[in-house]
Amino acid sequence: MAKAPEDEHPQKTFGWAARDSSGNLSPFHFSRRENGDDDVAIKILYCGVCHTDLHAVKNEWGVTRYPVVPGHEIVGIVTKLGNNVKKFNVGDRVGVGVMVGSCRSCEYCNQDMENYCPKLIFTYDSIYHDGTKNYGGYSDMIVVDQFFVVRFPDSLPSDAGAPLLCAGITVYSPMKYYGMTEPGKHLGVVGLGGVGHVAVKIGKAFGLKITVISTSPSKEAEAIGKLGADSFLVSTDPAKMKASFGTMDYIIDTVSAFHAIAPLLTLLKPNGKLVTLGLPAKPLELHSHLLVLGRKLVGGSDIGGMKETQEMLDFCAKHNITADVEVIKMDEINTAMDRLAKSDVRYRFVIDVANSLSK
Ligand SMILES: NC(=O)c1ccc[n+]([C@@H]2O[C@H](COP(=O)([O-])OP(=O)(O)OC[C@H]3O[C@@H](n4cnc5c(N)ncnc54)[C@H](OP(=O)(O)O)[C@@H]3O)[C@@H](O)[C@H]2O)c1
Ligand SMILES: [Zn+2]
Ligand SMILES: [Zn+2]
Repeated sequence: MAKAPEDEHPQKTFGWAARDSSGNLSPFHFSRRENGDDDVAIKILYCGVCHTDLHAVKNEWGVTRYPVVPGHEIVGIVTKLGNNVKKFNVGDRVGVGVMVGSCRSCEYCNQDMENYCPKLIFTYDSIYHDGTKNYGGYSDMIVVDQFFVVRFPDSLPSDAGAPLLCAGITVYSPMKYYGMTEPGKHLGVVGLGGVGHVAVKIGKAFGLKITVISTSPSKEAEAIGKLGADSFLVSTDPAKMKASFGTMDYIIDTVSAFHAIAPLLTLLKPNGKLVTLGLPAKPLELHSHLLVLGRKLVGGSDIGGMKETQEMLDFCAKHNITADVEVIKMDEINTAMDRLAKSDVRYRFVIDVANSLSK
């Protein structure tokens, strides 16, 4: 018989897990593996709440294996090192993002694209090399192979910096890969949530002109006044959408739910590119006419490799980019998830794990 999560490994761990598709999270005792030679043990300080966590706890993609401890925007302190670990010291502040393992030898791993490795292992709800299940950052500690741990720049705060580990790399990588960084070009950011608001900040650091495309008129003042966007377009206003036809060079779509992309494609100039990052459960509809007439491109992108994740953190440190966060206690997570489902967060919840996770 399989061992209970609490008895599987030697390091006793405590976190919050969802047990079924209600998505309700509650206290959960489990365990982490003993440090191997390449492993780093990390005391978790903060963990961001990504919409992917919400998709997962509610089993919106139909693949969740309960119990699930979510969390893949982790900042913590190194507490223990395996024998081969030379790049970190005990006491260092480090980050862990969306992945904790890959094959390390395929053509993607060999080109610093572990995120596209066919054997990619996610931080939670994924099976590790040893055959046991991974649990994420809504917990007191984690053990991670040093290759998948990043140095956290001194100037970045642990709470507002944590979301960069997913939201940050999710927008930085496609902007570079798809050539969406030419200063002065016009970027539309669809959905002003956790990923979207970081896209605005990183886009500004690349020198782009940015229009936020949103369903929430109440976000306009902050988008322009606080986040630095140049303009704001309410996507449910047909007249304003029409007035913006053919004005954008690039669009980053971060919407978490099914939505029409045809109106977004009309906003692009000829040769424009739309990169979709959201992961709605229901497929989007692609209108080929809108691509053909104007030679437009639609692409996707999934986080980024480890080398690029470190590069992104250093870039954000240099440009003083952090997320705008609402810091919550662990026992406020269910209310936070309800608010996240309603796009009611400015703009990322981050759990103060170290100060609020009490057994
Ligand atoms: N590709 C990747 O590597 C990657 C990484 C992280 C997350 N994701 C995915 O990206 C999506 C966004 O994540 P997030 O954490 O940024 O979520 P989020 O904070 O909930 O933001 C999503 C935003 O989308 C807009 N939105 C929500 N429902 C909508 C609807 N029905 N129609 C139009 N707009 C709607 C809202 O913005 P407005 O209020 O401004 O309209 C909302 O704030 C999720 O699906 C997540 O799983 C992908
Ligand atoms: Zn995420
Ligand atoms: Zn690989």
